Amino acid sequence: MCGIIGCIGHDDETVDVLLNGLSNLEYRGYDSAGIALKQDGIDIRKREGELDELRRSVRRDSDSLAGSFGIGHTRWSTHGPPSDENSHPHSDSLGRVAVVHNGIIENYQAIRDELRSEGIPFTSDTDSEVVPHLIARNLEQGADAEEAVRAAVDRLEGSYALAVIVQGTDKIFATRSDSPLVLGIGDGACYLASDVPAFLDYTRDVVYLDDDEFVTLTEDDWSITDLNGDPVRKTVQTVDWTAEETGKSGYDHFMLKEIFEQPTSLRQCLSGRVDELDRRITVEELDDLGEPDVVQFVACGTSYHAALYGAELLRDAGINARAYLASEYATSPAPVSPETLVVGVTQSGETADTLSALREARNRGADTLALTNVVGSTAARECKHVLYIRAGPEIGVAATKTFSSQLVSLNLLVEHITGRAQVDQSREFLSALRDLPNDLQHVLDESNAREIVDEYADKDAYFFIGRGLNYPVALEGALKFKEITYEHAEGFAAGELKHGPLALVTENTPVFAVVTGDGEQARKTLGNIKEVEARGAPVIVVTDGESEAERYADHVLEIPSVHERTAPMLANVQLQLVSYYMAEQLSRAIDKPRNLAKSVTVE
Ligand code: G6P
Repeated sequence: MCGIIGCIGHDDETVDVLLNGLSNLEYRGYDSAGIALKQDGIDIRKREGELDELRRSVRRDSDSLAGSFGIGHTRWSTHGPPSDENSHPHSDSLGRVAVVHNGIIENYQAIRDELRSEGIPFTSDTDSEVVPHLIARNLEQGADAEEAVRAAVDRLEGSYALAVIVQGTDKIFATRSDSPLVLGIGDGACYLASDVPAFLDYTRDVVYLDDDEFVTLTEDDWSITDLNGDPVRKTVQTVDWTAEETGKSGYDHFMLKEIFEQPTSLRQCLSGRVDELDRRITVEELDDLGEPDVVQFVACGTSYHAALYGAELLRDAGINARAYLASEYATSPAPVSPETLVVGVTQSGETADTLSALREARNRGADTLALTNVVGSTAARECKHVLYIRAGPEIGVAATKTFSSQLVSLNLLVEHITGRAQVDQSREFLSALRDLPNDLQHVLDESNAREIVDEYADKDAYFFIGRGLNYPVALEGALKFKEITYEHAEGFAAGELKHGPLALVTENTPVFAVVTGDGEQARKTLGNIKEVEARGAPVIVVTDGESEAERYADHVLEIPSVHERTAPMLANVQLQLVSYYMAEQLSRAIDKPRNLAKSVTVE
């Protein structure tokens, strides 16, 4: 999704700070980029394509591009294809205003028609371009810069994070509605961004903006007011992410680095929450959480797969629980009561579909909880309760370490909800959690995923199957695979294969089967493996060796024999590696897969 950066107070270094910020936002996904600098007038440079295109264009004029402050943007197309014209910043016809925008302005067509009828020419297909024209018209009608921006914002419907500079005014203005925006407070400089990594090289002190707040940044000060202009008191928070954490640390890709960080991120997630001596699980954040009768999970993408896992854990414990796709729930919510807990599972805490589903649930009277990685994110602030998964920054578009931390955090949540957290936890489960980071390290050290991948490149399609807690793992395995290899991959509940998908199975469709334990689900999955084998499909099993799965496999991806609730997490790591190495072999853009964005802030 689009990324915004703004900075004031860096004088000659402004261009570098803006480009560096955009580079740190690349992971969100984008197809064009641009910056606007305050000089005598406003200088705008924008280019379709990679950030390097913009860098080249800026470098050509580096002498003349020494503005004292500016704004920048990476665009992920919604209205109009990627092109220089559609890139941000957008300006009015006389170049007095520059605007960067994230989100979607729903009433842009009506505003555009109105402005065009007054003879105002448009140069792009975007919804965003109405904003600078509205501001410029307000200026012409006598408003000062701030009034002109406020009055323009007043006209907008939809979602937006906006940053604006106006000729003749040494300020950056910004505001948000349903789209993330955070302020960075540095030493003699201020920053603005859609996500903290954009300015983490300069400061860790941040202020998270809420909807309808209006920011004015000057070189040595910042102020936040509501839409009426009344001051809003905000707290400066210090984030514990470091710039090093957001670098690649020698790995070829962020995704690989993040896969290998999982033992550490799981230790962070569990730290101080599991007490083996007292046989307790303590999650302080959940102290105020009541005992819900019903739990509904809402989530998208990878987080939805985590939600399926969480719902199954709760159902196993006798609690009525179900996972919903947030985009569906938002317009077709399930019935709730005050005893219903709706849990938004969201790495970023900014996914528009998930926020929308959570708001729907809250408005109907349900209790809400955000299970998220990002402290201060919109979901964290809007939900009554929040449980942080503590995975650290995740930059690769394909979620990996955050999925594992979500699964662990869901275990903690389930223990809390079922009331088992405080008393006599099973020793077996506690030691499984304690050992999980080491078990995961073992899988990373011993995995043969890279070798297996060599044999299966260039097939027609790839299927992933599993049952019970391994069903979400199969779905996640397929999602990861298609996201970064661009090959056709589907995940199925193993038992569902025979009800249709089996028609697709041939000797050219490898099937990855996740089989752990030796219970009924494992036995039944073996039956499903035989079904695909009989149709000539190569079978790769991910297994702990407890069942006979290996006997029917062309290849085996081994995991240690562990607790039934942690085994799916280890199996998932093997599938993460399969996807990564296949994508590497196919030379895909692993960290920035085509058409995808890390944080999807439109519905
Ligand atoms: C996007 C990302 C996915 C992610 C999903 C939900 O589609 O590409 O990797 O799983 O959003 O994101 P969230 O931040 O809510 O977990």
